[in-house]
Amino acid sequence: MPRFPGTSHTNATLSATVFSRFAQRLKDLRGVTTYPLHVGDTWREPLEAARAEAQRTAETPHLHTYSPVQGEPALVAAAVRKVKARTGVDLDPADVQVTVGATGGLSVVCQALLDPGDEVLLPAPFWPLIRGIIASRGAVPVQVPLMDRLAAGRDAVDVEAALEAAVTARTVAIYVNSPHNPTGVVLDDAAAAAIARVAARHDLWVLCDEVYEDLFHGAAAPTPLWTRPDLRPRAIVVHSLSKAYGLAGARVGYAHGPAEAMAAIRAVHTFQAYGTAKPMQLGAARALDDGAAWLAETRAAYRDAAAATAAAFGAPAPAGGTFLFADVRDLVGGDDATPLLLALLERGVILTPGGACGDAYGGFVRVCYTSVHPGELASALAIVREVVADLRAGGPTA
Ligand SMILES: Cc1ncc(COP(=O)(O)O)c(C=O)c1O
Repeated sequence: MPRFPGTSHTNATLSATVFSRFAQRLKDLRGVTTYPLHVGDTWREPLEAARAEAQRTAETPHLHTYSPVQGEPALVAAAVRKVKARTGVDLDPADVQVTVGATGGLSVVCQALLDPGDEVLLPAPFWPLIRGIIASRGAVPVQVPLMDRLAAGRDAVDVEAALEAAVTARTVAIYVNSPHNPTGVVLDDAAAAAIARVAARHDLWVLCDEVYEDLFHGAAAPTPLWTRPDLRPRAIVVHSLSKAYGLAGARVGYAHGPAEAMAAIRAVHTFQAYGTAKPMQLGAARALDDGAAWLAETRAAYRDAAAATAAAFGAPAPAGGTFLFADVRDLVGGDDATPLLLALLERGVILTPGGACGDAYGGFVRVCYTSVHPGELASALAIVREVVADLRAGGPTA
């Protein structure tokens, strides 16, 4: 049936403005210093050797030709070394696939594992793009409110029962992200075991999003879920250089998992992206091999920023990641955080509406505490404290 000038029905629910409900208001602000705490990025420049300008044709002839579909051998080798150092696990290099960031990685993973109509359990709230990645495959993201309850830590949360109740005959996978965007939760062993039991009971794939694996705020590095013997055979793992190495613009990530699935993922990757920028893959390899000190400084800076941000919102400090997910229902008197979002926006502080992270979260706001320099963050948090105090005192501030 002709479609012109229409576009794909499968992708009709996707929007390029996932973060910018208030974009016009923002454009209208004149002469106000803005603090973009809505985008998950960093103020830090990456390790020098990893930067775009550090890659040179003189040192790497054919720097601008295609890379192999699997990725640059130097990056694949560095990824294997990194995984070994972080987890003790020896990967077969053949089972590693370099991807266009974790976004491109999850997209090819969904393309390779899912068929239209399949369901994926999505513990909510969640990273806003994952819903669209699943939907763009024609699959159904099934929201399971869970992560905010784990973050609040008030009542015992039955992770197994929550997931189990959402399983249907069409469920194919569970998406798991820890440390978590947006709540900052690091899943503990009990939660991991519950996920593993549900996955085993219903023969599900487990999509492990490890983009924040190195950004934990406690003393010890958390054990990645996928390294559990009861999860590993069914885990497809996606990593990124964007977060721990400050290379979001490089668009480099890598995935690994069981050999047969990785062969299917590589096949899809061939047709979807073929590869990602070779100079940036080489920079990424340098970051993985030589970035430990840079990462340690970053982790310390982010930990302080997390604590300061939580204090300003009167919320518990996140355990990892780069976000705080603040429950502001008491402050705004209901499930719509718009009064707070607008009051902050008028004064230049931009946050993500919680609703972008799940249908049940209109009364929450997401704050990225790593996107601006600590000095600017302090100014933004001073504004937050004033606006929160005004709202508490009963007067709308804008
Ligand atoms: C949980 C999560 N997964 C994946 C990504 C995407 O990372 P990348 O920049 O590697 O595409 C992000 C980015 O914000 C994220 O928060």
